[in-house]
Amino acid sequence: MAMTRRRFILRGLGVASLAGTATASYAAMVEPFRLEVTRYALTPPGWPAGQRLSIAAIADLHAGGPNMGRERIRAVIDATNGLGADLVVLLGDYFATHRFVTEVVPHAAWAAELARLAAPLGVYAILGNHDWWHDIQGARRALAGVGIPVLENDAVLIGAPGRRAWLAGLGDQLAYRIGHRRYRGVDDLPGTLARITGDAPVILLAHEPDIFVRVPGRVALTLAGHTHGGQVRVPLLWPAWVPSAYGRRFAYGHIVEGGRHMIVSGGLGTSAMPVRMGVPPEILRIDLG
Ligand SMILES: [Fe+2]
Repeated sequence: MAMTRRRFILRGLGVASLAGTATASYAAMVEPFRLEVTRYALTPPGWPAGQRLSIAAIADLHAGGPNMGRERIRAVIDATNGLGADLVVLLGDYFATHRFVTEVVPHAAWAAELARLAAPLGVYAILGNHDWWHDIQGARRALAGVGIPVLENDAVLIGAPGRRAWLAGLGDQLAYRIGHRRYRGVDDLPGTLARITGDAPVILLAHEPDIFVRVPGRVALTLAGHTHGGQVRVPLLWPAWVPSAYGRRFAYGHIVEGGRHMIVSGGLGTSAMPVRMGVPPEILRIDLG
């Protein structure tokens, strides 16, 4: 018997809603719990050939259940230590601020996990917009309490003689909300770069990638997070969901413009809603030289 038009439409709707439910389940219950290591190997202009440096980067931890409870953070830290990098950098946004948090992870608890990170050249942090918007003093105290230095418009010289590099950290570009989608940052790029002397190569940590349009060629590599790669990467809608003034341009991955290099991590946790789709949680391992 031929299918009536009505029955055909109903069946189509049934299939579509089943697919929609499966997709939503995956986005809520599967992908946020994945953990990938994304590797980059590069020698950007301004990085001395033969000078090797490996970096592990953690971005947007957003500690808090359902998807970033204590056990999960422990696994992330273990996996990061397992990479055996020379240097570990933390790119901001340490705790979850969405309204669907099922397990609160106190600042002292996520900081205690970060304190287990070990690398010969140390562990350095910058702060993100969610840290500023929700509890900047708490985030500062937590990191200070476990002895992780925060680079805020500051730079430190790392590495042994002959293999030195500058590690610079930028203040957050969205620190104060001053209106609808209007912000005042505490970032001072010229002041940060003014701290750099000599000719050792420079790595810049910036929570939001948008600063990249102003980063000079003196910086060999910029590392950023914040975008979560759009967090839910679906066709057509995705570019609008990337929290950047530049849409897809700085959304994710290795970006090269005018000989300048930036790597944007998709991060680990979630904001707005505890879902991820097409951007699995990741730790970065970057090999320079
Ligand atoms: Fe952020």
